[in-house]
Amino acid sequence: MNEALKNIMERKSVRTFTADAVSEEQLAQLVKAGMAAPSAVDTRPWDFIIVTDKSLLKQLAEALPYAKMAAKAPAAIIVTGDLRRQYGGGEALYWLIDCSAATENILLAAEAIGLGAVWTALFPEADRVIAARKILGIPEHIVPLNLIPLGVPAGEPRAKDKYEPGQVHKNRW
Ligand SMILES: Cc1cc2nc3c(=O)[nH]c(=O)nc-3n(C[C@H](O)[C@H](O)[C@H](O)COP(=O)(O)O)c2cc1C
Repeated sequence: MNEALKNIMERKSVRTFTADAVSEEQLAQLVKAGMAAPSAVDTRPWDFIIVTDKSLLKQLAEALPYAKMAAKAPAAIIVTGDLRRQYGGGEALYWLIDCSAATENILLAAEAIGLGAVWTALFPEADRVIAARKILGIPEHIVPLNLIPLGVPAGEPRAKDKYEPGQVHKNRW
C-alpha cells in the first residue's frame, strides 16, 4: 500500500506511553504538520501550545476528566483557534473546522514518526475550556480545541478497521 495511505490506516489513539522523551525536533515536526493543514480562505487561525513541563502536564491531567494520560505523557500539544483571525470573525465556526484539520495532521504526523497521540476534547466542554485557559494563561479570544498528549507508545496499540461500505453513497443519497 502507498506509504501515506498506510499511515492514515495505521493511526490510532494512543493513551499509554513509555518513559522515553520526545525531542524538540519531533515536536517541531508535529506543529509544522499542523500548520500544513487547509483552512478557510487560508486564514490559519490556529496556535499550538507545546507543553513539556511536568507540573503543567500534571495540573492538566488533574483538571481534565478524560485526559488523565497527560500526567504520564512526556509532552502534549494544545491546538487553539483565534476567533479574531478566523474566516467570518467573531461568532463564526471556521476556527473549529480549521483547527480540527490541523489536529488530524498532527495525529498523522505522530504516527508517521513512531509516536503515539490522542485527541482529548476541551471545546465544546465549557468546564474543560475554562480549566485549560486558567492553567495555561490562554486569553478569551483564543479557544483551546483539544489537548493532545503524546509520546512513544507503550505496548502495541492497534488501529481499528472502520470501513463501512454501507456509509458510502453513489451519486445520490
Ligand atoms: C472530538 C474528539 C474528542 C475526543 N475526546 C477524547 C477524550 O477526551 N479522551 C480520550 O481518551 N479520547 C478522546 N477522543 C479519541 C476517540 O475516543 C478515538 O478517536 C475513537 O475512539 C476512535 O479510536 P481511534 O482514534 O483509535 O481510531 C476524542 C476524539 C475526537 C475526534
